[in-house]
Amino acid sequence: MNTSPLRTLRNKAKLMPLLVNYFPNGISVFIDMFARSLECSFYMIKHFPKIKVFASDNDSNVSNLWNLIFNENIQQRNKDVSQLLELIECTGINQNVWELCKENKFETNIYKAFSFLYLSNFGYMGKPETLLHDTQDNGIEILIKSIKDILKFYADKITFIHSDFIDISLPMRDRMKQYYNQFVFCDPPYLNKGNNYEDKDWNEIKLRTLIEKNIKSGLKFGICEFWNNETDKIFNEYNLNINLVSERVNLKTRDTEIFATNYKPEKLLFEI
Ligand SMILES: C[S@@+](CC[C@H](N)C(=O)[O-])C[C@H]1O[C@@H](n2cnc3c(N)ncnc32)[C@H](O)[C@@H]1O
Repeated sequence: MNTSPLRTLRNKAKLMPLLVNYFPNGISVFIDMFARSLECSFYMIKHFPKIKVFASDNDSNVSNLWNLIFNENIQQRNKDVSQLLELIECTGINQNVWELCKENKFETNIYKAFSFLYLSNFGYMGKPETLLHDTQDNGIEILIKSIKDILKFYADKITFIHSDFIDISLPMRDRMKQYYNQFVFCDPPYLNKGNNYEDKDWNEIKLRTLIEKNIKSGLKFGICEFWNNETDKIFNEYNLNINLVSERVNLKTRDTEIFATNYKPEKLLFEI
């Protein structure tokens, strides 16, 4: 199911087969504005191989990793990635290394990328607190293979930039004149839900700014969120369609994943 070497708790790998039903037809550029693990972008490239992806995130660790792997300077990229792979291979899964990664004192890009991957892959419950002791023996091989596969199958299809969503100019005229049918996919942090992102300060004002920026661009866009009184009010104020993607119920909570769009999806599954 996962393609990305970066394992994150709230990645959208599982949800993409449902979410994609609400995407417009004929997308040629997929703009993944809150890309993190890049699972959504990888899914799109795998299923729509002609698509071009433009991805961004404002987290410096996320950006350091993807800028290393998607560096347009191929010679430098090959050199950096082989050093990264060597480091992963030589280290193995090791408590001392784990502690060093947690201290986050590495300075070079390669060590930083190594440490970020290490914490995301070998933490108990995907969290960087405790090293997963019953890690499968082949955890290292899986990680190495996934980095190699990304390089082989995706590196020339993704442009990644380190940016806050506010600073991205839409539509992407300058860099991608030849492309049309751009779709802006937004999977921002969810309102009032804790997260472990570098920038923890997500709030209603930012969500509104994101909606207004997208509306101004004239492009088709969709935003992931949970359904609740607050999000319902905000999305309705901007006349967005609220599409029900999935529902997860446990003893205490009911989480309804929605996808708010500024167009009526053609392959509508459920509507709220
Ligand atoms: C829900 S996660 C995205 C998950 C992603 N779709 C995946 O499948 O891995 C939200 C991301 O938004 C990023 N983020 C938070 N605030 C941001 C901002 N103001 N601009 C750009 N990215 C931001 C976080 O760093 C985090 O990686």
